[in-house]
Amino acid sequence: MTVALYPGSFDPLTNGHRDIIDRISRIFDKVIVSVLENPRKKPLFTIEERVEMLEQIASKYKNVEIDSFRGLLVDYARKKKSDIIIKGLRSTGDFEFEFQMALINHKLEPSVETLFIMTNSEFSYVSSSMVKEIAYYGGDISSLVPPEIHEKVLSKINANVEKLQF
Ligand code: PNS
Repeated sequence: MTVALYPGSFDPLTNGHRDIIDRISRIFDKVIVSVLENPRKKPLFTIEERVEMLEQIASKYKNVEIDSFRGLLVDYARKKKSDIIIKGLRSTGDFEFEFQMALINHKLEPSVETLFIMTNSEFSYVSSSMVKEIAYYGGDISSLVPPEIHEKVLSKINANVEKLQF
C-alpha cells in the first residue's frame, strides 16, 4: 500500500491545497494531510481549526486522513510508515526552497522520497499569505478558498486584524 504524506501549514487551506489533495487522492492508496505544529511561527488559525477545516473538505475522500505533527517531517514519516512526501509547486519561486528541503529530508532519511506536483495553473498565484492579505484589505477571497470554509476564514481574519501577519 502506498501512503503519501502531504504536509503544510494550511493557515488557511486554499483552493490550491484542495486541488492537490483531490489529485493525489487518486494516485495513492492513502494520503495523510498533516498540519505542522510550528512553535516558531505565529499562525492565524489554531492547529485544531486547521485540522477541522481540512477534515471538512476531505470528508468525501475515503483514503484521505487529516493529522498534525511536531518536529522533523522525516521522523513523522517514519512514524506513519510513509516514504513519500508530496509537495506542491506553484512557480519557480517555490522551487529553490523546496529543492533544498527535499535534499535535506533525503539526507536525514534516505528511504523517504519527495515528489513534486505542479499546482493547477488556475491556482498558481494563490497562497495562504495572500488570502489573509486580500481579506485584511476587504478584498473578495471567495474564489481562493473552498466554499465550505469561506465564512470561517473571513470571520477569523476580521476578528484578528490587529495581530495579523502575512
Ligand atoms: O505550508 P508550508 O509552511 O510551506 O509547509 C512547510 C513544511 C511544514 C512542509 C515544513 O516546514 C516542514 O516539513 N517542517 C518540519 C520540520 C522539518 O522537518 N524541516 C526539514 C529539515 S530543516
